[in-house]
Amino acid sequence: MSKVVRVAVTGAAGRVSSSLIVRLASGEVFGPETKVILQLLEVPASVNPAALKNLEGAMYELQDCGFSTLKDVVITDDPNVAFNGCNYALLVGAAPRGPGEQRSDLIRKNGAIFVGQGQAIAKNAASDVRILVVGNPCNTNCLIAYSNGRDVPADRWHAMTRLDHNRAVSALAIKAGVTNDAVTCVTIWGNHSNTQYPDFTNAKIGGRPATEVITDRAWLENTFVPNTQERGKFIIDTTKVSSSFSAANGAIDHVKSLVTGTPAGDWTSAAIVSKGEYGVPAGLVFGYPCTTSGDGNWNVVEGLKLDAFGEAKFKKTLDELLKEQEVVKDLLPS
Ligand code: NAI
Repeated sequence: MSKVVRVAVTGAAGRVSSSLIVRLASGEVFGPETKVILQLLEVPASVNPAALKNLEGAMYELQDCGFSTLKDVVITDDPNVAFNGCNYALLVGAAPRGPGEQRSDLIRKNGAIFVGQGQAIAKNAASDVRILVVGNPCNTNCLIAYSNGRDVPADRWHAMTRLDHNRAVSALAIKAGVTNDAVTCVTIWGNHSNTQYPDFTNAKIGGRPATEVITDRAWLENTFVPNTQERGKFIIDTTKVSSSFSAANGAIDHVKSLVTGTPAGDWTSAAIVSKGEYGVPAGLVFGYPCTTSGDGNWNVVEGLKLDAFGEAKFKKTLDELLKEQEVVKDLLPS
């Protein structure tokens, strides 16, 4: 009998999820022998009449793809239904930043969503559930969700820095004139925001230190780092909308790594609940270099060194996450 995996996706009618759900259904992530049940959550019609209707349309289109791996599609506005028995919960749905709103306003606005969803996951999900928060500000949303869903072990809760990781790999590859697969050991430290530190000092290109292949240190510090930090804004400035299929691809890559493992001699980037690694206060959701054997668990790569430039960037992104934690502290049950 084939295995069945239940995947809950929130914000399922949105732009990121529209790319995500097709790839989850296709067999690409869980393999041809595993059947997928998609449990798709949107806001009630009273909040947005179009959302559930669009989701219904997405369900019909998924059926029309005829994937041999898609067993069922559930569409709902009830988190208890969406997270029922789910093995993966991909939390994409979040309110966008409104005109004149500050990042701290957005954190508070979205915080309430992740209180309820954290509780609903703890109440309904399968005992092996893994959660990936994509909706922004994803590190702090993840912190809120896991703090309100403590029956699920802390190491199951992740926030997405894989898109940033992929962006950094691609930027280094383009500069070095190589293909992406030659670039390894890249890390996105810290927050998925413009304070993240895309670490080139430990990265490799063709197995050699990236700094030996790209000897223009000024480019690395003054172009590569800020461009990676601001890549999301650059996409918005170019297209007037935020990244969609590349974000979905980041989420797919994150889950795929958990299912199939990271390659020997390489690692990837994921934001996870810190156990104090690299001096980060335990409990903060912080982007680290991570490996996995494909057993669904991330292991932080220990012992990497940062130079003075990296240390300053690391501190800046850590400070930002500590400030975000302060903004939502009333949403974090102890
Ligand atoms: P979108 O606005 O197209 O879709 C968001 C969807 O979420 C909407 O359909 C909305 O109705 C739904 N939603 C809102 N509150 C909900 C709730 N409580 N429960 C269920 N659904 C809810 O936005 P898009 O472009 O799909 O982006 C989604 C999120 O992903 C945004 O927060 C965005 O900032 C974030 N993002 C994160 C990235 C990362 O690298 N971590 C990269 C790109 C986007």
